[in-house]
Amino acid sequence: MKQATGKLGVLCVGLGAVTSTFITGVLMARKGLAKPVGAMTQYDKIRVGFGDAEKYLKYDEIISLASLDDLVFGAWDVYPENAFESAVNADVLRAKDIMPVADELKAIKPMSAVFDKRFANRLDGDNVKPLNNRWEMMEAIREDIRRFKKENGCERVVVLWAASTEVYVPVDPAVHHRLSDLEAAMKANDTERIAPSMCYAYAALAEGAPFVMGAPNTTVDIPAMWELAEQKQIPIAGKDFKTGQTLIKSGFAPIIGTRCLGLNGWFSTNILGNRDGYVLDEPANFRTKEVSKLSTLESILVGEEQPDLYADYYHKVRINYYPPRGDDKEGWDNIDIFGWMGYPMQIKINFLCRDSILAAPLCLDLVLLIDAAARDGRYGTQRFLSFFLKSPQHDYLQGEVPVNHLFKQYVMLKNAIREMGGYEPDEAMD
Ligand SMILES: NC(=O)c1ccc[n+]([C@@H]2O[C@H](COP(=O)([O-])OP(=O)(O)OC[C@H]3O[C@@H](n4cnc5c(N)ncnc54)[C@H](O)[C@@H]3O)[C@@H](O)[C@H]2O)c1
Repeated sequence: MKQATGKLGVLCVGLGAVTSTFITGVLMARKGLAKPVGAMTQYDKIRVGFGDAEKYLKYDEIISLASLDDLVFGAWDVYPENAFESAVNADVLRAKDIMPVADELKAIKPMSAVFDKRFANRLDGDNVKPLNNRWEMMEAIREDIRRFKKENGCERVVVLWAASTEVYVPVDPAVHHRLSDLEAAMKANDTERIAPSMCYAYAALAEGAPFVMGAPNTTVDIPAMWELAEQKQIPIAGKDFKTGQTLIKSGFAPIIGTRCLGLNGWFSTNILGNRDGYVLDEPANFRTKEVSKLSTLESILVGEEQPDLYADYYHKVRINYYPPRGDDKEGWDNIDIFGWMGYPMQIKINFLCRDSILAAPLCLDLVLLIDAAARDGRYGTQRFLSFFLKSPQHDYLQGEVPVNHLFKQYVMLKNAIREMGGYEPDEAMD
């Protein structure tokens, strides 16, 4: 694999709670004033080799990873607030964790966004490019990427979507299956089927930048984008950061499945009061999240494989906007299971979490690992990054079932890192 030399530009779409928490944390960690807790790339150790040759190494001892010192941040947002103002407004971090890097944060001013209010009706910022043709929007983002790269002397750039969830765009084969159709629809300004996020993704790939979709938008879940990623030989990953409730679900469901207990129902609900929650309070935007969140259980507890246990469970996910909580989301899971001779039991999980505190390390891991994948010559959908994502990309045209099981995803992650580092992949438990 090519070594990570020079600066890595990290261009974030959206400079809200997640992005400002992510950037502030990296800048603080760089100064030794905070620890990047939760970031696998900074802490996790993987076994490589067997027997006498066995050793446990950190990721950057196995593969070449960009160091925190080499990251240069930029962003686009609909609102003009710089990263310092955004971090203060998001109210996730305390002043003592922001002030030491205030100057650096103030220097990160969002570039104007490509935006269409129909995709996020609750936002009304004015830091928006005066464009509405989808192809022109895409060209403008390409220009931004080129300028950012030049002005900051970046060797490489990764584009990370951490902007609001757009309204649900169902896959339409006439537009989303073939790249030529997608391009024609962008040029013809098909504002219904081409979401603004697709302009960012297209622009990133056209500029040779890997693209990560951190929201549940179907942006890169379409064959036309896979075609573009393959044509340009650039990696893509999506979708939806796996942070709180879904992390628990993809880690807990295997307990039920492994012990061959039955499932009657799983009801998940949340309260949260940040801007993300405000946007998701809009039913059309929530629909996108719902589809993403619902997909997790189906491939772990599979009715066709175990009809006695999982044929007919009821799975419901709710998100409730509740302003007093801000970013401090609270999630409840009620799990109705059954055991020996069908006797019912219940499990309750109450997770009092912090949304952006959970998402920030995922941003770092996804950025560093997709950059490594690109340097290793990997392109198209990066399945090994499923570990970090709620609703992993998969080739549904070929009937591929995505891997949602957290521990199988971890094996995929470890093996990709082993392979990139020149070691043999394996499935041993350790
Ligand atoms: N925090 C988590 O645990 C978590 C987990 C999974 C997914 N996500 C997703 O991450 C995203 C960001 O979450 P957040 O809490 O930072 O939200 P946020 O509302 O604080 O920030 C999102 C920002 O995106 C901007 N934006 C919207 N459309 C844009 C566009 N077209 N171009 C540029 N900017 C645009 C908004 O103005 C806003 O400032 C959301 O989609 C959320 O669903 C978050």
